[in-house]
Amino acid sequence: MGSDGSDRPSPWHKPLVVAHRGASGYLPEHTLESYALAAGMGADFLEPDVVLTRDHVPICLHDVHLERVTNVERCFPGRSREDGRFYALDFALDEVRSLSATGGQRHGMHGFQIPTLEEMISMTVHLESKLGPLGIAPEIKSPSLHGEAGAPIVRIVADLLKASGHATDPSRCILQSFEPKALVELRQDHGVTATLLELLSGDPPSAAELVAIAARADAIGPPKSMIEATAGQLVKDAQALGLVVIPYTFREDESETRRYFRDYGVDGLFSDFTDVAVRARDH
Ligand code: G3P
Ligand code: CA
Repeated sequence: MGSDGSDRPSPWHKPLVVAHRGASGYLPEHTLESYALAAGMGADFLEPDVVLTRDHVPICLHDVHLERVTNVERCFPGRSREDGRFYALDFALDEVRSLSATGGQRHGMHGFQIPTLEEMISMTVHLESKLGPLGIAPEIKSPSLHGEAGAPIVRIVADLLKASGHATDPSRCILQSFEPKALVELRQDHGVTATLLELLSGDPPSAAELVAIAARADAIGPPKSMIEATAGQLVKDAQALGLVVIPYTFREDESETRRYFRDYGVDGLFSDFTDVAVRARDH
């Protein structure tokens, strides 16, 4: 039973494997094919990073720029800003759809597209009905940059998640951001009761900072190096405050992945290689 009272079962029954950008170790990141492969490999949650197009449609993309993982430079020469970057916010959805999502240097493939967040959620719900419990973990990218451009990404994502039922289902939706302000807005202004995960970077938080995080979020997402730097103490301290701990980002190294589950006791992790992470967890 989902914690919103729905009859959907929760994927949250043991430490979580969150498919980082889908099965991005195998296929171009943030494509429906990549998400589907991760689901087939046994991911508990699928992670779309989210930015907006010029017409304010949320799409699945890690960067606020398009050029790292698409052929935008070839398709739309002259559409970069003065800094030479091709901002998703400068392209309409139709234009984004015309691009090839190549996966950049990691894959360099053709025949893939950037999906909208709505399409990604729709496919996830469909797969959930076929494969069993499957959650989503959207990360709202650069809320401040979007806000400065008059693009209210936090509200737009909240509205979409309300429509799909994920906004009030903490067991099937983990919403992430590096910007604490966005998490506060989600809960206080938009009534989102999904699991809120604050992403961390830089130095480990002090004890007081961790208490402040626990007051506005349900989970933390530290880089794995931060856990290593504290010899795992960060996991213990955060969990003692009721925070769920889901570090990023794990690759092919199964023994390292196993160590974080077994020795550090993390509640889940973000992995580019869902199959490796599932093996490491279930070992
Ligand atoms: O959201 C977890 C992890 O993905 C954060 O780093 O840069 O891959 O979005 P990034
Ligand atoms: Ca992310």
